[in-house]
Amino acid sequence: MAIATKDSLGPTSDVLREATARAHERAERSAFVTELMDGRLDADAYVALAGQLLFVYRALESAGDRLASHPVAAAVLDERLRRTPSLESDLVALGVDPSELSMLPATADYVAAIEASAHDAARFVAHHYTRYLGDLSGGQIIASKLRNLYGVSEDALSFYRFDGIDKLKRYKDCYRDRLDALELGDEATDALTAEAIRAFEFNQELFAALER
Ligand code: HEM
Repeated sequence: MAIATKDSLGPTSDVLREATARAHERAERSAFVTELMDGRLDADAYVALAGQLLFVYRALESAGDRLASHPVAAAVLDERLRRTPSLESDLVALGVDPSELSMLPATADYVAAIEASAHDAARFVAHHYTRYLGDLSGGQIIASKLRNLYGVSEDALSFYRFDGIDKLKRYKDCYRDRLDALELGDEATDALTAEAIRAFEFNQELFAALER
């Protein structure tokens, strides 16, 4: 039986994008996201999402801090991406005390998977990629909807502003180049792609929980 080589799999960023394309479509088409994008929800729905995302980013960023000296994680880690402080300040601007929030079961499952990834850098990168590249892409579209459809003010949208990153497209290209330069091997690449698909599913499960 032929054994897949890194070359046969192609660049990691292409493998990841292709492997998650269907999961992305499902997340993008989920009822919560569609209704949010169509102006059929209200600002409170976003407040609920932002509150749950705070737990996700706390877990993601503390896993990142623990993996900071790991070369695979270090390839994607960047202080300019850190979102916990901006999410906290957005929530305060939205009238929420972050210390009063509690996690939904769907968020707890997502957080548990992120915490487990702190022991496996390839899996951690999957969670990093799914959230931050999403924030730098569709997140920008979500921010404009929040602004224009729901009247969310700029001081509550700092989560979507990446100070110090000028051109988001160039940054994403560079992120993909850094992924492609990693010498992961097939096993780690498989673990990375499987975990990225799971990460999308966790997001979808969170949307479904918020919809309920
Ligand atoms: C309103 C819903 C969404 C819209 C409109 C949207 C839109 C987009 C667009 C246009 C891109 C391509 C950007 C580019 O090539 O530079 C993209 C990429 C991406 N999105 Fe979304 N997205 C949405 C939801 C999500 C969600 C829920 C996630 C996961 C949490 C996500 C994660 C990603 C990722 C990881 C990429 C990068 C793909 C790659 O190039 O490797 N997106 N999104």
